[in-house]
Amino acid sequence: MTQTVEPTNPELPTSPEDTVPTGQQPSATAGAATTPTAGFKATALPPALKRRIPKYSDLAPLMQFKKPEFSKEARLKRASTIWDLRDIAKRRTPQAPFDYTDGAAEGEITLRRARQAFLDIEFRPGILRNVSSVDLSTNILGQPSRLPFGIAPTGFTRMMQSEGEYAGSQAAEAAGIPYTLSTMGTASIEDVATAAPNGRNWFQLYLWTDRDRSLELIERAAKAGNDTLMVTVDTAVAGARLRDVRNGMTIPPALTLKTVLDASYRPAWWFNFLTHEPLTFASLSRYTGTVADLINSMFDPTLTFEDLDWLRETWKGKLVVKGIQTVEDARKVVDHGADGIVLSNHGGRQLDRAPIPFHLLPDVSAALKAQDSNAAIMLDTGIMSGADIIAALALGADFTLIGRAYLYGLMAGGREGVDRAIQILEKDMVRTMALLGVSKISELNPDHVRVLGK
Ligand SMILES: Cc1cc2nc3c(=O)[nH]c(=O)nc-3n(C[C@H](O)[C@H](O)[C@H](O)COP(=O)(O)O)c2cc1C
Repeated sequence: MTQTVEPTNPELPTSPEDTVPTGQQPSATAGAATTPTAGFKATALPPALKRRIPKYSDLAPLMQFKKPEFSKEARLKRASTIWDLRDIAKRRTPQAPFDYTDGAAEGEITLRRARQAFLDIEFRPGILRNVSSVDLSTNILGQPSRLPFGIAPTGFTRMMQSEGEYAGSQAAEAAGIPYTLSTMGTASIEDVATAAPNGRNWFQLYLWTDRDRSLELIERAAKAGNDTLMVTVDTAVAGARLRDVRNGMTIPPALTLKTVLDASYRPAWWFNFLTHEPLTFASLSRYTGTVADLINSMFDPTLTFEDLDWLRETWKGKLVVKGIQTVEDARKVVDHGADGIVLSNHGGRQLDRAPIPFHLLPDVSAALKAQDSNAAIMLDTGIMSGADIIAALALGADFTLIGRAYLYGLMAGGREGVDRAIQILEKDMVRTMALLGVSKISELNPDHVRVLGK
């Protein structure tokens, strides 16, 4: 009779019956014609692979039944990525303000592509470099920043979580990075200066052809110690934010049957919202009219480069133009006296299918170098990890800005949530730099990144 023996695979559960006593082994030739395994010599299982009943002393060290922790600290600590913070933010924030933050214009193609652009690269690490200490500090617009990113201007920030601009500016101050207050901020220029007196506070201006209106804000920003004015130029008209339309989004959120139901499972947000000062455009409180009027008046389709020239003459500090989307415009605003530019498509919230800042970066960097410009190149849109920031710096950015990445932190846990977002990005950057074999920001160069498909 022919007997076949299957080879024992130590990775599969095996019972002692699987082994065959050596005396019963088939000969090398017997059955060779009928079984491919003939000739394999089975051996007894090593003692470590024999099954046994577990002893209590084996189980005890494995048992770590901890009391579940529901504190804010524990919740934030469990987040290891900005995407984790986004998940928490989504659970804790009513749908309309969450979508207002998370969403973008039209089909949201710009935002998806901007995030994808950072994924479509390959890092090229150097080995055997001493990376025992990694220094992330840099210089931007003539002053140091402890990390190579700052907080981008965002409007209505207290609607996302009631600590809003206070949380953002104080977290930035503690981290030693710049904070930008939006013209549409829900804390005033003066409030932010008081909340973060040692912070590096920048002011973002929506420029109007009504120069008196702009002038008043510019003077207040200078008086409050802002060293940089960032003028946003990608908002000739408002983008079509379809999630807001579908959610019937109003500012401030209205109490409807839907929002009251929503409140039943997001009580903390509503409690904070209803027990703090009502939302206003704090720097614009002098203006009368509805919030909708104010928003519409924020966008001025009649602006031209002449208005930028006027601003350059009027503002004595550093002037940054935000919303640059072509190489030609980058060159042009620098010729008109900008100290820096932000390659940005407004987080995909304006023009859909807009140019992706990360794609533009090498050409803009080359163009400004060719005209011997010292203007700072900043970049935003789509940054969701510290590795994204490192890739941008390697390809020619001097600095980056984060919008949603910090807002997800804010919605997940107020000031501590913003701290956590900054911490996550910092850890990502230190790890990425060390693995790249780089210990200083100035050592990063285009050789560290290969854009896939190029
Ligand atoms: C909720 C929200 C509000 C924003 N408000 C403003 C604003 O008032 N002024 C401005 O210049 N940009 C504004 N932005 C754009 C940001 O400054 C920044 O360009 C963008 O968020 C970067 O993309 P990211 O969110 O992927 O980081 C806003 C962005 C978001 C998400």
